[in-house]
Amino acid sequence: MATRLTTPCSSSSTNFSPSSSFNNEAKLFTRFISMPRKYGLSTWVSHIHSKTHARKHFLLNSSNEHPLNAFSLQDGLAGNPLAKERIEPPGKERPSIPMSEAEKEESTLSITVVGASGDLANKKIFPALFALFYEDCLPENFTVFGFARTKLTDEELRNMISKTLTCRIDKRENCDDKMDQFLKRCFYQAGQYNSEESFLELDKKLKEKEAGKLSNRLFYLSIPPNIFVDVVRCASHRASSANGWTRVIVEKPFGRDSESSGELTRCLKQYLTEDQIFRIDHYLGKELVENLSVLRFSNLVFEPLWSRNYIRNVQLIFSEDFGTEGRGGYFDNYGIIRDIMQNHLLQILALFAMETPVSLEAEDIRNEKVKVLRSMKPLKLEDVIVGQYKGHGKGGKSYPAYTDDPTVPKDSLTPTFAAAALFINNARWDGIPFLMKAGKALHVKRAEIRVQFRHVPGNLYKRNFGTDLDKATNELVLRVQPDEAIYLKINNKVPGLGMRLDRSDLNLLYRARYPKEIPDAYERLLLDAIEGERRLFIRSDELDAAWALFTPLLRELEEKKIFPELYPYGSRGPVGAHYLAAKHNVRWGDLSGEIYE
Ligand code: BG6
Repeated sequence: MATRLTTPCSSSSTNFSPSSSFNNEAKLFTRFISMPRKYGLSTWVSHIHSKTHARKHFLLNSSNEHPLNAFSLQDGLAGNPLAKERIEPPGKERPSIPMSEAEKEESTLSITVVGASGDLANKKIFPALFALFYEDCLPENFTVFGFARTKLTDEELRNMISKTLTCRIDKRENCDDKMDQFLKRCFYQAGQYNSEESFLELDKKLKEKEAGKLSNRLFYLSIPPNIFVDVVRCASHRASSANGWTRVIVEKPFGRDSESSGELTRCLKQYLTEDQIFRIDHYLGKELVENLSVLRFSNLVFEPLWSRNYIRNVQLIFSEDFGTEGRGGYFDNYGIIRDIMQNHLLQILALFAMETPVSLEAEDIRNEKVKVLRSMKPLKLEDVIVGQYKGHGKGGKSYPAYTDDPTVPKDSLTPTFAAAALFINNARWDGIPFLMKAGKALHVKRAEIRVQFRHVPGNLYKRNFGTDLDKATNELVLRVQPDEAIYLKINNKVPGLGMRLDRSDLNLLYRARYPKEIPDAYERLLLDAIEGERRLFIRSDELDAAWALFTPLLRELEEKKIFPELYPYGSRGPVGAHYLAAKHNVRWGDLSGEIYE
């Protein structure tokens, strides 16, 4: 069934014209390039963490001070004289152009969270905006607007938001003052999502706050997908910026299959240019996922091994220790393959497997990712298993089945677990299984990337490992969450007079190495959208390729009414996942019983 778009796309004119968008981007560049920042310039670490325009181009200087990587211009600015003036010569760490007080004062940023009373807005978006404010990453003149149908006053919105804001950046510091300052910048507008009048009202309020300054407007659509187009139509006609940029962040699901996703894109593009659409996949904003490319491309010891010659298989694992409680209505229409695999895990796969991009520019990276997605071997039903959790009693407590949720049909076949073996038909990865596994109501909450290397040929110490050589292969693990870590399993001699070997870990445990709290993925992504950095957002051709891979499989599962294998709530999932892995000579690394501290 295709996603129902309540509004047929209208071809009426729009305020978002590509040419004005270009000019606006250039204006933005001049204004945001030197937003106030908290961190100094002195260290490489602070350089990467700092959220300046150039943070995406972090330069690694060689000993002779020449940059090792390329510096390139922000999207669309290459030919712009205004932008050229602002580009620092190579070799300098990053642009540090002082912004005049007048410049700072003449632009504003308005962030409108559409669907402000919802769960995502309250748990993630407002707290992320506060964290950015706390870190001085937002420009001087900014306002946050909540927009939703519920009637609320500004004060009521502030009360609601304040319940989820935390001083998590630095727990020792009392951030009440900062919180008050932030809340004073938050306002509310009630309205209907499909009403142009409501957005006109919003526009009036935005204008009051903007006070005639250059206005940049960011809309965050934290709403169900069936009203995306309505909102975008109304916002584009009635509330887009007249003199600055207008951008829209869209949360998944982007359709249910190739057809509905294509239709959604077509409709959105009647009102927005591709450059204005920021399709968020919050897994791309996670620290360890960001680090994947750094690890690979800036360490000599990894990149040469990154191919079928040395890697035996790659595992992308997502598990949650809770069910769909409260979200059954949404989830039953999507299932775990659409909810996690087609986006979060596939995006990680693309990033993991891509060729070296020409530069760190958004388009160069996305070009490489899309090549991977288009090289994927069609996914066959026999390489997929699906499961659904059933009720289970443990320690005197009973856990519900998926179908116990009152919003889920009793006979639902929607998978809450899936495992799949994927292959990339290219020279680097030919024949190497990329195993994905995603499930809800499992025994643990965890997301990780596991890379299992080949056996050492003619291993001199073979006899020390017994018959199971698999146990002696190196494995690189990137634990995305919780407790972020990167560790490499190696074989090591146990100290002593004998020759006993064991498996040890070279370990980078983030909490031990980096005392500062890791920013939430939404902070990074919101700041990127504000800065016009598209690297971590999904381009429409990436989305098309992702759906092209999964749509035939989803169709087959649904047409054949494949019955999911039941697994108890809180278990390790269906045994079918083991058979699938075994068929491809793989053992799931997460089930090896390792406990790493
Ligand atoms: C969302 C899915 O995209 O990601 C949810 O829709 C899932 O079903 C969530 O729970 C997991 O995100 P995180 O950041 O908590 O791992």
